[in-house]
Amino acid sequence: MSQNSDLTRREATKVAGAAALTAAPFIQRALGANNQVQYAVIGTGSRGSYHITHLNGIDSGKCVAVCDVDQAALDKAVKESKDKPQGFKDYREVLARKDVEAVIIATPLYMHFPVTRDALEAGKHVFCEKSLVFTAQEIHALRFLSNSRPKQVLQTGLQRRYSKFYQTAKQMVDKGMIGKVTHVTGQWHRKSLPRTWVPPAWRAFRKYSGGLTAELASHQIDVADWMIGSHPELVTGIGGLDVYKDGRDVYDNIQLIFKYPGGQKLMYSSICTNNHLAMFGSSRTEFGEMIMGTEGTIHITVGTDQEPATALWFYEPDPKKLEAAKKGGEKAAIANASLATTGKGGKGLPVLLEDEQVKESDSFVQKELKFAKMWLYKKGVMVPEETKNPVDVQLESFFSDCRSGKRPLADLEVGLEDSANVILANLAMDEGRRVKMSEIDTMGGGPVKAAPAKKA
Ligand SMILES: NC(=O)c1ccc[n+]([C@@H]2O[C@H](COP(=O)([O-])OP(=O)(O)OC[C@H]3O[C@@H](n4cnc5c(N)ncnc54)[C@H](O)[C@@H]3O)[C@@H](O)[C@H]2O)c1
Repeated sequence: MSQNSDLTRREATKVAGAAALTAAPFIQRALGANNQVQYAVIGTGSRGSYHITHLNGIDSGKCVAVCDVDQAALDKAVKESKDKPQGFKDYREVLARKDVEAVIIATPLYMHFPVTRDALEAGKHVFCEKSLVFTAQEIHALRFLSNSRPKQVLQTGLQRRYSKFYQTAKQMVDKGMIGKVTHVTGQWHRKSLPRTWVPPAWRAFRKYSGGLTAELASHQIDVADWMIGSHPELVTGIGGLDVYKDGRDVYDNIQLIFKYPGGQKLMYSSICTNNHLAMFGSSRTEFGEMIMGTEGTIHITVGTDQEPATALWFYEPDPKKLEAAKKGGEKAAIANASLATTGKGGKGLPVLLEDEQVKESDSFVQKELKFAKMWLYKKGVMVPEETKNPVDVQLESFFSDCRSGKRPLADLEVGLEDSANVILANLAMDEGRRVKMSEIDTMGGGPVKAAPAKKA
């Protein structure tokens, strides 16, 4: 076997080691029927309906109510849920029900905060879709309200946080496997925006929507924050309304640059005239992120129901390591990897999940099968894929956290930071300036303070 093949095995095992660290937290014990979390879905349009079909496969929750102001969406939801929930048009009636412990909110963005606020005040656990809130004032108000109710779970619908590939990538970053992360790129390029973006749909108007930044970029800005391990200090960008002359007032293409305190940058693009994705050898389209470090790059995408999440690692070791590698042994193999991945347009190595890692306890045949699979990945014949949709994992995790009181991975602060990034990026494009993230502190009246204690 050549050195390169040896290297593939060694490096693949390293990646597998990183994957092992991410194991377990989401493998939930199936709850008994009498311990199911009784929930309602509020807003049963496109996303709410998608959630219902996924929730039908999760036995740790039971849908007791669905709610939508639109009769057709409501009727569809009642029919779709396997739990035969009761339908409501007014969400306040849902919140008044004692048998509803938790709510899953998938209303338009401008309604996220009012429903979330009322649900928390009614004592419910809340899963709310991204972008968590719409205005600066809502950021301050929700932080205050949710922190004053610590026993109630608040989770944001940022499902990449629940993907094993993204968790593995984060472990690789933390272990220094791509050196110091200096740049992240994120793109969501969609040739022709779908019907849900066309007036009179709410997404088309700033009064109700944060446009592409809230609807698409929010996911990927969160990935950059997570991978870089801090929050941006400023953002600048250009937005254009160049294609859709149909009365909408949100941008139809945006380009953003976020700068982080360590000098790292997120370069973000969302356009509606082209689907091309220059990652994964262009075998995927539309969206993905690239995490670039001083010693390598990770391509990653959460994918779709049809094309699950996947990730590739391009190794690019430090020149000093290459020098050391000339001395032979393991290090020589690393040098060969570098030659394979730089200057020759080398292929990425698969990022392996836990069940694909080679273990000591594996039989000879099991090991050979795993090596063969890695080889097929490396040759591009197969791509590693996540077996469980992160959307299912995030919903299961929500129910589990409702029972255990554990803080969600996509918790209040993850959601609020993401919303602040969205709000300020839109401001930067609207005003054509560099916006400091600290501006959010004084926007919308600033942080909500507790009422002073009454004097005796
Ligand atoms: N996490 C993700 O990947 C993802 C994907 C798609 C959408 N989303 C988010 O989900 C949310 C909904 O998006 P969508 O595509 O389903 O929009 P949609 O327009 O298809 O559905 C929204 C539904 O909410 C209903 N609604 C509006 N006001 C209501 C109220 N006061 N009470 C009850 N129902 C009300 C509408 O009638 C509609 O049926 C958005 O915030 C969006 O960003 C998240």
